[in-house]
Amino acid sequence: MHMCGIMGYVGPKQAAEVLLGGLKRLEYRGYDSAGIALEDEGSIYLRRKAGALRVLEEVLAESPPPPSHIGIGHTRWATHGGVSDRNAHPHTDCKGENAIVHNGIIENADELRAELLNAGHVLRSETDSELVAHLLETGPADLRVRLSEVARRCEGAYALLVMDVHQPDRLVAVRRTSPIAIGATENEAYVASGAIALAPWLSECIYLDDGEIADIRPGKIEVFRLEDLEPIAKTLHPIEGDGELPDAGEHGTFYRKELMEQPIAWRRVMAGRLDDVGQVNLRDDGIDQEFLRSVERIVFLAMGSSLHACQMAVERLAEVVHLPAQAELASEFRDTRTFLEPGTLAIAVSQSGETIDTLAALRHARDLGAKVLSLVNAPASTIARESDYVLDLRAGFEISVASTKAFTTQVIALELLTAALAQARACPLPPTDLHALRAVPTVAEDFLAAFHLPKELIETCAQAPGVIFLGRGQDLSLAREGSLKLKELSYVWSEAFAAGELKHGPLALVDQRVPVIVCVTDPRHAVKLRSSLAEATARGAYGVAVGSKLGATLQVTLPLKERIGAYLLGALPLQLLAVEVAEARGCPIDQPRNLAKSVTVE
Ligand code: G6P
Repeated sequence: MHMCGIMGYVGPKQAAEVLLGGLKRLEYRGYDSAGIALEDEGSIYLRRKAGALRVLEEVLAESPPPPSHIGIGHTRWATHGGVSDRNAHPHTDCKGENAIVHNGIIENADELRAELLNAGHVLRSETDSELVAHLLETGPADLRVRLSEVARRCEGAYALLVMDVHQPDRLVAVRRTSPIAIGATENEAYVASGAIALAPWLSECIYLDDGEIADIRPGKIEVFRLEDLEPIAKTLHPIEGDGELPDAGEHGTFYRKELMEQPIAWRRVMAGRLDDVGQVNLRDDGIDQEFLRSVERIVFLAMGSSLHACQMAVERLAEVVHLPAQAELASEFRDTRTFLEPGTLAIAVSQSGETIDTLAALRHARDLGAKVLSLVNAPASTIARESDYVLDLRAGFEISVASTKAFTTQVIALELLTAALAQARACPLPPTDLHALRAVPTVAEDFLAAFHLPKELIETCAQAPGVIFLGRGQDLSLAREGSLKLKELSYVWSEAFAAGELKHGPLALVDQRVPVIVCVTDPRHAVKLRSSLAEATARGAYGVAVGSKLGATLQVTLPLKERIGAYLLGALPLQLLAVEVAEARGCPIDQPRNLAKSVTVE
């Protein structure tokens, strides 16, 4: 899981400080406990606490850790075993010689646990992770060889970082699906589950790929194939950012900051790709005309907000390029589909580029013979590294767990791709569309500066037993995104329906306590949506229309009528609604309960 954070250090600095500094930078991804292990004169010093990293820091401030030059740290997002000090990582073996941190899930844990208990090991937590520490108690003396044997016995998806007090000059890391980044200076080495954690100390790093094991010593990183321990040459990738942790500043939360920053991100995603005369050019992204002409069918693979952007793109591709396209929930696609027609392009869309379901679906599509294009906000991510073509979203670092700017830049990037496909195939794309797109950021800035949601709506939603979002066509994906934002941030139960479904069941849920929010950024559906809204308001619902005028209790009028522009602007009031309802209910905004920024656990 990149839901968990991993950090490791070996070198002359005080390891505890480096570990805490790195973990802090991974905090935004969501976690529920934290811990560190250090080598302390031939034994392991261990401190773990349920709760925020701050809690662990307070404990360490009260009784400072020993000076140490090697250590591993972790922020845990519970999967196996509840949230407790005992279940927090690192874990150690019976003798206290090996310490490990783990991201992911070991699927054959029951079998391994039984075997270890049989052999007399004393297990102190309910986690699958602790088993690895005990498995490391026996086997070859060399930590790399020993871990490779243990890793080969563990099934599932994981990243492991281990240390052995008898080999205090090295850490060993192994990867099967969950990310690991490693970098070194002349006399030290750093490991983390995300390069962002390394940025204060390093400007470049390597990424482990699946089935690789790394021997990490000060100034020296060696990578081997897990299978046979054959050495592998790795490429260094630049680490973005200057090491400064972004600050939410006057916005108070990253969610609000990222929401307000959207127009800037939109300009960035278009820069150099869309010219003054409305021509799209993706050549710098390695996407040429010949390739664009060769595409016969598109399968989008994504989860969460990213999937909603894909659903919008399906509508646009059908309309503008007449290209058959489908948007698949990556978690379903990876298991169910067994056939892809020749000429199918798989497009994986993921903010983080690490979402495990999207990655697994991408690999599945590739096995079925498809070429893969990925749209990611992290060009060095696993999904990008495993794709034939990559479109960088350039949304900038997104910290809030709930996505705002990554979602809307995905919509724009996919619209640019749609336009590029249309132009390469000489489809009659309405020329005004792309001109209008260039103007959207400025209109959005003015809109955001002036827009306010009425208190009455916020209060009604905050107390509602549920909120219903409705849409048709492109607006169904917008309704889904609005509903996702609201439930992620405010924990108010909500659901999005195709408006046509309303009478076939959902209408039974509607009474005066249930707000019904209708998305109508495509005016062609206004007449039908007006009827749907009327059916709900006739039953007492607080009706909201976002887009065309529908005679709602609250009409949110958008200053752009053109389809993409209206869609992008329509996302803004929905994003604002979610945060304001969440604030009214006293919910934490940037890290909603139980959620993680990049879901690397199945
Ligand atoms: C998580 C996040 C969502 C996000 C989804 C896909 O569930 O909470 O906000 O949309 O993952 O993430 P990705 O990084 O692949 O876009």
